Amino acid sequence: MKILSEEAITFDDVALVPNYSPIKSRKEPDVSSAGLKIPIIAAPMNTVCEYEMALKLDDLGGVGVIHRYMSIEAQLEQYAKFVNREAPFFAIGATGDYLERFEALSQAGVKKFCIDVANGDSAASLEAITMIRKRSDCTLMTGNVCTEEGFRRLAEAGSNLIRVGVGSGAMCKTRVVTGHGVPQLTALMWAARAREAYPDVILISDGGTRTSGDIVKALAIADVVMLGSLLAATDETPGQVIRKPKNGGIHSFKFYAGMASEHGRSLNNWFDRTKTSYVPEGDSVMLPCKGPVENVLNNLIGGLRVGMSYAGASTLKELREKATFVKITNSGMIEGTPHGKK
Ligand code: XMP
Repeated sequence: MKILSEEAITFDDVALVPNYSPIKSRKEPDVSSAGLKIPIIAAPMNTVCEYEMALKLDDLGGVGVIHRYMSIEAQLEQYAKFVNREAPFFAIGATGDYLERFEALSQAGVKKFCIDVANGDSAASLEAITMIRKRSDCTLMTGNVCTEEGFRRLAEAGSNLIRVGVGSGAMCKTRVVTGHGVPQLTALMWAARAREAYPDVILISDGGTRTSGDIVKALAIADVVMLGSLLAATDETPGQVIRKPKNGGIHSFKFYAGMASEHGRSLNNWFDRTKTSYVPEGDSVMLPCKGPVENVLNNLIGGLRVGMSYAGASTLKELREKATFVKITNSGMIEGTPHGKK
C-alpha cells in the first residue's frame, strides 16, 4: 500500500484567476476545438443520446455518441437517420457482440466508434482496441481512465479520443461502491501530462460538469467535454415525459439514469438480477424538463465565452495556456454562489 502525497482536486476546489482581457465582446472568443464548432459531446447513455440528440448536436456544431443499449439492428436504424450527414459516433462494448456490432455498423458506413466501458485501463478494453485497429483505421474514442498511465496505454494502443473521468458523473456510484476514482481536475491534469507525448489524441473531460463554470474549468485542461446530466431531460433526449404533481401544480419530468444503475443494466439482455451478484454502480433520478437542448447549450456556451474573456483567451488553446487555478476554501466556495437573500 502507498499513499500519494498529492491532494486530488475537483471543480469546487479551485477558481480560475482572471487575467487582463484584450477581448472586447463576449462574441469574440472562438469555442471551436478538436474539429468541432462547439466543444460538446453527448454521453452514450440511453437517457441522453439517440439520433434526435445527435442530429441536433450536429446542427449546433457538437457531436453525439449513440448509446449501445439496444440491438445491432436498432443501432443500424439509428444510423439510417443520418443520410448525407457526418456520422455520429456509435458506442460498442469490449466484450460480447462488440465485434459483430462493429462489423455491421462499419459495413453500413459508420466511421466513428466509441469503445464504451467503465474501466478503460483494462485487458478487455485494450484487447478490443487492438482487435478494431487490426480491422480498421476508423476514428476511435476509448476510456474511461483517470491516470497518466491509463491515458498513455489507451493512446499507445491506437485511440484517437480518450474519455477521462472515473466516478465523477452525476449518476456515478463507483467511488461509493468500489472506493476507486480520482477527483476530476486531478484526473484531467494527470491525463494531460500523458497527452504531451500524443498531441494528436483528443482529451475528453467526461463527468461531473454541472455548470458552465465547470465547463470552463474542464476546458482549461481538456479539449472537449462530454455531458450527461446537463443535457438530460431536454426535448431531444430519449424517453417519455412524465407529468407529476409538485408544489400544487403539474410539472413535467424525464428520467436520467447511470448506465451501471439497475435501470441501465436491465437494458442488457444478459442481465438477470436473480442470477447475478452484480452491485449497481449508478443511480437514477427524475429531472424537471428543460425544453430544447439548443437553449441549454446557448446558456452553457454563453458562459464559456464569458469565461474565456475573463481568462483573456480568444481560443480554447489560449485558455489552456493562460489558465491559472487557485485553490479555494469552503468559505470561498460558498461566497462564490448566490447568497444574501433573506
Ligand atoms: P455527467 O456528470 O455529465 O456524467 O452526468 C456523464 C458520465 O457519467 C458516466 N456514467 C457513469 N458512471 N456509473 C458510473 O460510475 C454509471 O452508472 C454511469 N453512467 C454514466 C459516463 O462516463 C458518462 O459519460
